[in-house]
Amino acid sequence: IKCVGVLTSGGDAPGMNAAIRAVVRGSIYNNLRVIGIKKGYQGLINDEMEEMFSKSVSNIIQTGGTILKSARSMEFKTKEGRKKAYENLQKRGIDALVVIGGDGTFTGARIFGEEFNIPIVGIPGTIDNDLYGTDYTIGYDTALNTVVQAVDKIRDTATAHSRLFFIEVMGRDAGFLALRSGIASGAEAILVPEIKTDYSQLDRFLQNEYRKTKSSSIVLVAEGDEIGGAIKIAERVGRDHPEYDVRVTILGHIQRGGSPSAFDRVVASQLGVAAVSALLDGQRNIMVGLSDRKVVHTPFNQALKNKKSLNPQLLELTNILSI
Ligand code: F6P
Repeated sequence: IKCVGVLTSGGDAPGMNAAIRAVVRGSIYNNLRVIGIKKGYQGLINDEMEEMFSKSVSNIIQTGGTILKSARSMEFKTKEGRKKAYENLQKRGIDALVVIGGDGTFTGARIFGEEFNIPIVGIPGTIDNDLYGTDYTIGYDTALNTVVQAVDKIRDTATAHSRLFFIEVMGRDAGFLALRSGIASGAEAILVPEIKTDYSQLDRFLQNEYRKTKSSSIVLVAEGDEIGGAIKIAERVGRDHPEYDVRVTILGHIQRGGSPSAFDRVVASQLGVAAVSALLDGQRNIMVGLSDRKVVHTPFNQALKNKKSLNPQLLELTNILSI
């Protein structure tokens, strides 16, 4: 391998810049050239790329977003799109790729890598933390802290008015963010897509615990919850209990921005360098991740096929701590 291409794709996550920096510097350290590809796979198709140097990644470890920009490319899902992308790789002399993103990014990488026999290594970057093969994804810790800070603020006003708040956090198919931030912010209940929402249980909780204390109550809802998110649940509870003062807050994209936490910066630095080492060791079609704080490699096939499960001990904690 002589030249590595690097891109970020899918939903951005705080810490992606720290990962880009580590890939660029890890490559240069190993005497490889490195080319930054703009707007994910779309930039590969449109030939939007430029060579990166150590200086290109100065002063970015602390910034949110991604200097390479991101996109969800529909064209890359087509054979013609991927052919164009491959031709541009050849033209530029790029012989390996590092892709930073989530499951959509790795699905594209797996197909592209197999189709054209290109070594590709993935780095998990998503606030959802929903990738099998790694304990943490880049951006998850920062998003957690953003959610906790927001919930703390909402609790002040909730308590002042003795209100019941339903707060929706991101996570289309995964409740990692909701569960962990819910525990950290002392939420009275947490609704996640992985577990069927038992409305009668929620109702019992509201009748007993909430009615008893009435100082305030916070229910954290992952956007992928099967009742259909915080608005739907709040409507139902409001209908069944007109005596409660119910409010809804949807935290939205605030969760994707901001300066990355120290934890995310370190994880991103470790995984960025590990991705380059993996390519140099002849690895391909794998994701680098962290398991028990050590770098591990998981084939894309496995990372995509398996579903990471929520920690049952954390789930149990909510029941114990919300009495
Ligand atoms: O995958 C990251 C994520 O933030 C999800 O939690 C959320 O459902 C989705 O992206 C939102 O995507 P978009 O920014 O395209 O609306």
